Amino acid sequence: MASDRPNTDRRVMLLTGASRGIGHATVKRFQAAGWRVITCSRHAFPENCPWQMGPEDHLQVDLASADDTLRAIAETKQRLESEGSVLHALVNNAGISPKGPNRSRLAGLETEHADWLKVFQVNFFATIMLARGLRDELARGRGSIVNVTSIAGSKVHPFAGAAYATSKAALAALTREMAYDFGPLGVRVNAISPGEIDTSILSPGTEKIVETIPLKRLGTTDEVAKAIYFLCTDASSYVNGAELHINGGQHV
Ligand SMILES: NC(=O)c1ccc[n+]([C@@H]2O[C@H](COP(=O)([O-])OP(=O)(O)OC[C@H]3O[C@@H](n4cnc5c(N)ncnc54)[C@H](OP(=O)(O)O)[C@@H]3O)[C@@H](O)[C@H]2O)c1
Repeated sequence: MASDRPNTDRRVMLLTGASRGIGHATVKRFQAAGWRVITCSRHAFPENCPWQMGPEDHLQVDLASADDTLRAIAETKQRLESEGSVLHALVNNAGISPKGPNRSRLAGLETEHADWLKVFQVNFFATIMLARGLRDELARGRGSIVNVTSIAGSKVHPFAGAAYATSKAALAALTREMAYDFGPLGVRVNAISPGEIDTSILSPGTEKIVETIPLKRLGTTDEVAKAIYFLCTDASSYVNGAELHINGGQHV
């Protein structure tokens, strides 16, 4: 049964793509600061979960399916309402980057229509579906949305495919539109744009790119998580519609 007053004591975040990489580090960062993190992934709640949480803090959802995403949104709303909770942050981190043979760049000429649709559903449409579906919970929490874009969204990348790159470019544009649309609700919307971060999404040969990065090294998942934390907390209270580069200067 819903309580009369929103339970705003503990800050609550919904994070997609929590099972590995950047998402995993983000859960650890926020939990260390006392946040409750509701994680989303295609897999069921793991019995050997590496952080303190229960099944009530996990959503099994395939973001490649619009129907399943809508089901997950309805389930989230119902869970939050029954607890009297609101949402203080939504981090759209889940992303897919299909590769060609030997993990090579998948060019537009070689990408099947079904793959274009799947990449855009996970990387782009799911983000606005979640934000739109949870707008009331976010507005009540004066929340913050962070979309995870990519350096590949702004120039051709040697390993990131055409569908991936264009989905991230579209997500950067969507972040701008969302900042305008959600701002009057008291909800800030920003993006972080990682460069080469040490996760399983990287392709062999990335070490060649690293030679061109001013800081001469890969980024760590924790360095990305810290930036997400900044955008979800009071330190960034007047930052809205920004896309923060986290790439060691790779974009210059
Ligand atoms: N690593 C980099 O260098 C880099 C650079 C630029 C941008 N990024 C972006 O940063 C984000 C995280 O990247 P990462 O390197 O940490 O990726 P990753 O290690 O490949 O993890 C991807 C996450 O997305 C989830 N996911 C994938 N497909 C899904 C689906 N259909 N439904 C629900 N969840 C799904 C995965 O969970 P399950 O498999 O459990 O479902 C996993 O937790 C992505 O948006 C990526 O594009 C990364």
